[in-house]
Amino acid sequence: MSGNDQQFKTFTLERATPTIGAYIHGLDLREEITPECRTELREAFLEHQVLFLRDQHITPDDQIEFAKVFGDPQEVSAFFPSLPEYPHIEVLESRGRAAGTDVWHSDLTWQATPNSATCLHAQEIPPCGGDTLWASMTAAYDALPENVKSVIDGLEGVHDWEKELTGVVRQGPDGEARYEETRRKYPPMTHPVVRKHPETGRKLVYVNALFTTRLTGISTQLGDSLRNMLTDLARTPEYQVRFRWEPNSLVIWDNRSTQHYAVGDYHPHYRLMHRVTLKGDRPA
Ligand code: SIN
Repeated sequence: MSGNDQQFKTFTLERATPTIGAYIHGLDLREEITPECRTELREAFLEHQVLFLRDQHITPDDQIEFAKVFGDPQEVSAFFPSLPEYPHIEVLESRGRAAGTDVWHSDLTWQATPNSATCLHAQEIPPCGGDTLWASMTAAYDALPENVKSVIDGLEGVHDWEKELTGVVRQGPDGEARYEETRRKYPPMTHPVVRKHPETGRKLVYVNALFTTRLTGISTQLGDSLRNMLTDLARTPEYQVRFRWEPNSLVIWDNRSTQHYAVGDYHPHYRLMHRVTLKGDRPA
């Protein structure tokens, strides 16, 4: 055990950076997850925000069981197909770059209750590239000067999937009908710019480059400048961790307190992921 490790009763945790991310060693998720292990995993998840597990040769059912440690899986939404017979597992496949995921974002913030966590299981990985980066938005908030905090506290941001994903929804022969249906189902959604994490109580910056179109309660010019400044925070290396995927890597992240970026650098190679998202609550 190195100075970077934290010994839990049911696994060993190795910090990936001082700020965000931890590797979990000593678990085989083909075996039943004991109540004690569940408690410890939840504790590690809230503290480190992203957990990395390697060599998990698990089935889709095992992935769902693991995800349930952290919450309640939700059925897939509008943008990715589901795995046949698994309405809770989305299939993310791409050659070179996945639609929209190579921009800093939290998943599904255009929903009224964006998902609380996301769990990805790597099926096929390019020989090189296709890493994912995460940024801690609690660390980003903590480092803001007090006068900036007092300006953004109380503002709201508008989140809209149309900002970047219209082209994806409009693809294919039924594109226009799907676009109209998605527009009706998911109108633009307003969330606070500073969100309080419902479990840890920590404050975090809840504005992302993929979905936040503008801030309200402030002039357009100032709002646009602030939006750009706040979305840029995720680019700060000190708030980030980067993960090199291998087949059967499994990652779960807190989708409230982090943003992520899937690097689109592996064309013409193929990357295939199974994704489970967990139900969230209304940001406050
Ligand atoms: C996502 O944005 O949820 C997927 C990230 C990835 O494919 O690495």
